[in-house]
Amino acid sequence: MKSSAEFLVFGVTGQQGGAVARALRAKGCTVRGFVRDPQSNKAKALAQEGITLAVGDLFDRASIDRAMVGVKGVFSVQTSSPSGLVSDEQEVLQGVAVADSAVAAGVEHFVYSSGGAAGKGHTGMGHFDSKSQIEDHIRSVPLAATITRPASFMEMMMLPGMGLNEGRFTFFMYPRQAMQMIALDDLGRINAQILCQPDRYAGQSLELSGQAIAGDDLESAFSHAAGRPIRYQRFPEELLATNAFLRELTVLVDNGVVSGVADIPALEREFGPMLTLEQWLSGPGKALFEAALNASKVDALR
Ligand SMILES: NC(=O)c1ccc[n+]([C@@H]2O[C@H](COP(=O)([O-])OP(=O)(O)OC[C@H]3O[C@@H](n4cnc5c(N)ncnc54)[C@H](OP(=O)(O)O)[C@@H]3O)[C@@H](O)[C@H]2O)c1
Repeated sequence: MKSSAEFLVFGVTGQQGGAVARALRAKGCTVRGFVRDPQSNKAKALAQEGITLAVGDLFDRASIDRAMVGVKGVFSVQTSSPSGLVSDEQEVLQGVAVADSAVAAGVEHFVYSSGGAAGKGHTGMGHFDSKSQIEDHIRSVPLAATITRPASFMEMMMLPGMGLNEGRFTFFMYPRQAMQMIALDDLGRINAQILCQPDRYAGQSLELSGQAIAGDDLESAFSHAAGRPIRYQRFPEELLATNAFLRELTVLVDNGVVSGVADIPALEREFGPMLTLEQWLSGPGKALFEAALNASKVDALR
């Protein structure tokens, strides 16, 4: 690498890495983003924002090692099997390769973005247990590391097929059952703060969430933001009976493994106010929400 940067961010063209890299830039830090295709629109936009690009692939250890040269902090995140891009075993191999590369390069501080269900015992869902395995590996190597475990992203609710364009919304919780969520903006700024203060955070595992949100809360916040009624319902039993992935996830929401255990007041004392769903809907999530409301039925099925 010719140009030097303080921080190396993986997944920089994606949701988490993008939020972290932009939050670091907003703090005036220099950032190197690991990209597969420097000609993609997202990579070009990052370069225009002053982020240096390191070209590589998480399946190619030598390219990870080249990107690692000279940085003091690393933000590590991998895709998981629901994306269709990796198997659970490949996610582990990638997470391990990034950590091992950081050890070999003598990186000062390593932040691994795991998931809210990790570190709580075997879940039986591969893309959660993979993260526990990566965490275990990171703790076993000589690396000053912070593990952050984000709750579900508010952004995830805007994926097609949830019914917003038909005046309804279907998700995991019962009307009075709460699940913790976080906005990507908060995830980005908190991880950036952690990267900038290794002495304060190295060695910790932090559960990250912005708000505990029940089904009824979704109905009122979405209806208010849409200016028309949005009826909330939990995924119907008939759907859960035929969709094993959603069924297993719903069990983990119900038994508390995925619904979140973050101490939100303590997080706010440490990192400042977190975005509520209402603030997210009128701020960073507004365009996503409007697109979901206005999606054609064909788009929503894609
Ligand atoms: N959704 C949620 O609510 C939630 C909550 C907690 C944790 N998580 C976890 O978050 C992770 C995904 O994070 P995200 O949503 O930020 O991801 P994302 O938006 O899907 O982006 C994935 C990123 O990884 C890059 N990438 C994929 N394969 C790569 C490879 N072989 N080599 C190098 N880069 C590669 C992509 O680059 P390209 O641009 O080249 O494709 C992109 O930058 C998953 O492990 C998931 O389980 C999700």
